[in-house]
Amino acid sequence: MALILGIESSCDETAAALVTSDRVVRAHRLAGQEAAHRPYGGVVPEIAARAHVEILVPLIEAALTDAGVTLSHVDAVAATAGPGLIGGVMVGLVTGKALAHAAGKPLIAVNHLEGHALSPRLSDPDLDFPYLLLLVSGGHCQLLLVEGVNAYRRLATTIDDAAGEAFDKTAKILGLGFPGGPAVERAAMLGDARAVPLPRPLLGTSEPHFSFAGLKSAVVRAHESGKYHVDDIAASFQQAVVDCLVDRTRRQLAGLSGISALVVAGGVAANQAVRGSLVTLAAAHDLRFVAPPLWLCTDNAAMIGWAGAERFAAGLTDPLDVAARPRWPLDPAAETVRGAGVKA
Ligand code: KG4
Ligand code: ZN
Repeated sequence: MALILGIESSCDETAAALVTSDRVVRAHRLAGQEAAHRPYGGVVPEIAARAHVEILVPLIEAALTDAGVTLSHVDAVAATAGPGLIGGVMVGLVTGKALAHAAGKPLIAVNHLEGHALSPRLSDPDLDFPYLLLLVSGGHCQLLLVEGVNAYRRLATTIDDAAGEAFDKTAKILGLGFPGGPAVERAAMLGDARAVPLPRPLLGTSEPHFSFAGLKSAVVRAHESGKYHVDDIAASFQQAVVDCLVDRTRRQLAGLSGISALVVAGGVAANQAVRGSLVTLAAAHDLRFVAPPLWLCTDNAAMIGWAGAERFAAGLTDPLDVAARPRWPLDPAAETVRGAGVKA
């Protein structure tokens, strides 16, 4: 049994966790920065980086105390090395390197997307490779075939905005506040999803990708028309996103065989309408559906610690001069798609 210290700082959550290779989360601490970014309606990279500098080390200390261990009990230090906002990534990675060096432990540089991709295996011990993963976060919207640790095939990505980004922009347009995803979901519960006619970009097309920019523009027009209630626009928007996610995922399922499950991860996987529609899709294909609990969907350090545990078990550790990478595709062989993976 290995004990891994996980560190996450790639966006606006500072997080530290202690996770074992037999799936016990011994401690997880998280400090959000919503209040600092709220006045700007979005994450300000420099404010985020400065906050990580202040919060991270005390947070790691607190996590170690919660778990009742010291660094000497840890088998490896796993830190997010990208993709993400470079200032924050550098704070977390350098901290991880310093701790690993001082304690004489191996360092594991974790791709944040791999953290999301493997997180369902932390909560579900029966989830085996390969599985089809819909990874939907603030910076990414991808369908990935997860064949194993360090073995990912990207089947589709967005050609413009990520799904979470679309939620965040819609929240801003509708004046629902920050962070946007949960705010849109709350408004949508009060609205009528059929009230506002909105487009479903790329729905039914033979190419595999996602697109949300046109949907966002349509939300702007609907709002400016003054004809619709904000809750109805939110509900109609959320339904349009769900329809696109389901359609693109169904398209992949039609061409895949031998997968163990349909899996969703990333911040948007916390959305109940998204989860519910994928449950139905998986059932229609006679597939198991797996989604991590909500706290494991949005950014956290347990998923980084767990990805570290999986990599450690596979013998994958990194040298102390490993680079921080603002962009870092999970599948290096995937073709570049315009607009994809611009943000973390
Ligand atoms: O994975 P995550 O915490 O950070 C990134 O790696 O990007 O995802 C954050 C994204 C944000 O865009 C946020 O608005 C969205 O996930 N999100 C949601 C919900 N909770 C978070 N979107 C829709 N419904 C939610 N309940
Ligand atoms: Zn994330």
